[in-house]
Amino acid sequence: MSIHIMGTGSALPGRVVENRELEGMVDTSDEWIRERTGIGSRHVSTGQTVAELAADACQRALEDAGKQAEEVELILAATCSPEEAAPCVACQVQSRIGAGNAVAFDLNAACAGFLFALHTAWAYVEAGIYRNALVVGSEVLSKLVDWEDRSTCILFGDGAGAVYVENCQEGGLLSFVQHADGKKGGVLGGGARLLSNPWAGQQECQPFFRMDGREVFSFAVRQVPLNVEEALGKAGLGIPDVDLFVLHQANRRIIEGIAKRLGADLSRFPMNLERVGNTSSAAIPLLLDELNRQGRLKRGMRLVLSGFGAGLTCGACVMEW
Ligand code: UT7
Repeated sequence: MSIHIMGTGSALPGRVVENRELEGMVDTSDEWIRERTGIGSRHVSTGQTVAELAADACQRALEDAGKQAEEVELILAATCSPEEAAPCVACQVQSRIGAGNAVAFDLNAACAGFLFALHTAWAYVEAGIYRNALVVGSEVLSKLVDWEDRSTCILFGDGAGAVYVENCQEGGLLSFVQHADGKKGGVLGGGARLLSNPWAGQQECQPFFRMDGREVFSFAVRQVPLNVEEALGKAGLGIPDVDLFVLHQANRRIIEGIAKRLGADLSRFPMNLERVGNTSSAAIPLLLDELNRQGRLKRGMRLVLSGFGAGLTCGACVMEW
């Protein structure tokens, strides 16, 4: 038993922030950002929440799959930027779309979150517990970004991407791998809430993302090819068998480095980071939805999905579309 993606959806907030606009806020330039990252613009929330974006993406995924919300048995929301600690984003999505029969909860593996949520959905379906799931990655990172820090504010964007998956006997998700290295947690993180109570007083916290960009860069270029090869090996496949590599959209140079290490032509690595930046857990399903709606995904095609992020976390899966 496996899972098959039957529908995709996405949602982006309407406000587009071009690199040029950032030039007026921090000491940077459109040329530097494009050359070092490949990013040209990003969407930024002017009020939309993680749950609102997630619900819109899920609604579109259901419509694409031709399914009703009441049929959904499981909703998994991957996010590292919820507005509130509770209720979880997945429960808010359930309420917004009217999926009254689903169980719903969140999962946080930062930028690898969607991938880990997809694998979790597979595990539930494989165990025979649920027959279908909505899996969504949604982020409003703009509230966690220090807009005075040029090394991070140029990278991130807001948005959501979702897939509706159903059980299948053949094809679908063929294999996956996932890894975590908590000792490297200091490389990328932030978003702390103030510890404030009568006993602690008010303690310092790190509200914004901080990052060792070079360290994350080399981790990604080193680790992602290993994950991809490991997942392909588990599926009994090799690099030539893959039609498209749908990778986390963090930096064009990272994707180029991964393609080179894998010995695969860059044309097999679709990208949308130029327009949306790094949307963390939303990046992979956002790109999948774009490819799906452009008609670039044909049944039977083999895809590799791979992501990495804070934690540090990373993983990959192989699927037949
Ligand atoms: O989902 C995972 C999230 N994180 C990532 O994916 C981050 C991965 N890392 C990266 O994408 C890259 O490391 C960055 C884009 C963050 C930085 O690129 P880099 O080529 O590694 O630059 P660098 O950090 O080595 O900095 C080179 C120079 C520095 O100046 P000096 O010390 O050489 O004078 C920086 O201060 O570029 C400077 N710099 C900037 N200059 C203009 C850093 N940010 C900027 C900026 N505009 N926005």
